[in-house]
Amino acid sequence: MNASAASDNAVTPEDHARRARAVLDDGAWAYLSGGAADEITLRGNKTAWDALRLVPRVLRPLVNGHTRVPLLGRTLEHPILLAPVAFQRLAHPDGELASAIAAALFGAGVVLSTQASVPMEAVARQVLPEATRGPLWFQLYMQADRGHTLALVARAEAAGYEALVLTVDAPVHGARDRERATGFRLPPGIRAVHLEDLPKPTQQPLARSESRLFDDLLLGAPTWEDVRWLLENTRLPVLLKGILDPDDARQAHRLGAAGIIVSNHGGRTLDTVLPTADALPGVLDAISGAIPVLVDGGIRRGTDVLKAMSLGAAAVLIGRPYVFGLAHAGARGVAQVLRLLRDELEIAMALAGCRTLATPARLVK
Ligand code: FNR
Ligand code: LAC
Repeated sequence: MNASAASDNAVTPEDHARRARAVLDDGAWAYLSGGAADEITLRGNKTAWDALRLVPRVLRPLVNGHTRVPLLGRTLEHPILLAPVAFQRLAHPDGELASAIAAALFGAGVVLSTQASVPMEAVARQVLPEATRGPLWFQLYMQADRGHTLALVARAEAAGYEALVLTVDAPVHGARDRERATGFRLPPGIRAVHLEDLPKPTQQPLARSESRLFDDLLLGAPTWEDVRWLLENTRLPVLLKGILDPDDARQAHRLGAAGIIVSNHGGRTLDTVLPTADALPGVLDAISGAIPVLVDGGIRRGTDVLKAMSLGAAAVLIGRPYVFGLAHAGARGVAQVLRLLRDELEIAMALAGCRTLATPARLVK
C-alpha cells in the first residue's frame, strides 16, 4: 500500500476528529465539539473511562462469542446507539439521514433529536425497513405548551418510533464559551424542523429585579409532574436521559420510566458535573436491575464500551465520535466509526476473557 492510501485510513477516533475539524468552519466546530464553560466535565468523561483499568482473565473459552444484548424486549447485535445530536446538517448536508442509514446497516440504535434538521418521518423511512437495524427512538424536549409536546409525541408514534427519550438535564443551554467566542449562529437553511411551526415563546418585558432565566425562560421548564403527565399520554416506553443522582433514578423508576440514561449531555450543560463513568454505579445500585440503565459521555474506544457494560450498563450511546465521522465523510464516515468501535469491542472482549457481554470484565480503579 502506498503512503497516501495508508494515510486515507482513519483508524482512531482522533483521526475522525481531525478530519472533521479540517472541513468545518470555526462556529460549527465550536458547536459540535465543544462543552460548557471550562470543559472540565467534557474532559472528565473521557478521563474517567481511562482511569478504570481492566483485569483480563486468560484461557477462558471464547468460541461462539458475540456482542448481542437484550434491550427493552429485543435483541441488539451490539450495545451501541447513536445519541441524539441536534442540527446534524451542520456537520454534513445529508445530516441525520446519513447517520441513520449507517446506523441501521451496522445494527446500531438511533435516537433522533427533537432539534433534528431533517424530519423524523424521513429518518424513520430509512431505518425501519432495514433488517439489521437497532432500535429507533425519538428524543423529546418538553415544550412550554403541552399541546406542542403532544403533537411531537403523536408524530413520533405515527412515524414508527419505538420509545421516547425525555432529556431532563438541559432546561437551558449551558454556558458555551466556545460558541460565543466564534459568534456561532445556525447558517440559513439549517433549522430545528420539528419546532419551526410552533410559535416562539414570547419574551415578556421584565422588571429590573427579575431574572431573564428564572422569571421567563424557565417558566416552561419540565418537572416531575410533567414526567408523570407524559407517561400518561403516550403508549411508548419513556426513558429519562440526563440522570446522575441515585435519588432521581429511583424517582424515575417509581413514576414508571422504562429506562434511564446516565448522561451529563457530553459536558455541554452544567460544567464540573460528575463524569458518567463515576455516576453509573450509584444509579445502577439504586435501580437494582428493575429497568435498563444506559450511559453516554466520553465513550471513544471499544474498551470504554466493555467497561460500561461490565459496570452493568444495558447499552451505551456515542455522540461526538459519529458526528465527526459524518462531518468528513457522510454516511460512510459514520459507518467507519461504528465499525471501528464494534471491532474494538470484540477485540477487548476476547482479550479480557469475556465470551459475551453477560460476562463482565473485572475493573479496578
Ligand atoms: C448533543 N446532545 C444532545 N442531547 C439531547 O438529548 N438532545 C440534543 O438535541 C442534543 N444535541 C447535541 C448536540 C451536539 C453537537 C452534541 C455533541 C451533543 C448530547 C448527546 O445526546 C450525548 O449525551 C453526548 O454527546 C454524549 O457524549 P459524547 O459521546 O459526545 O462524549
Ligand atoms: C445541545 C442541545 C441541542 O446540546 O441539546 O446543543
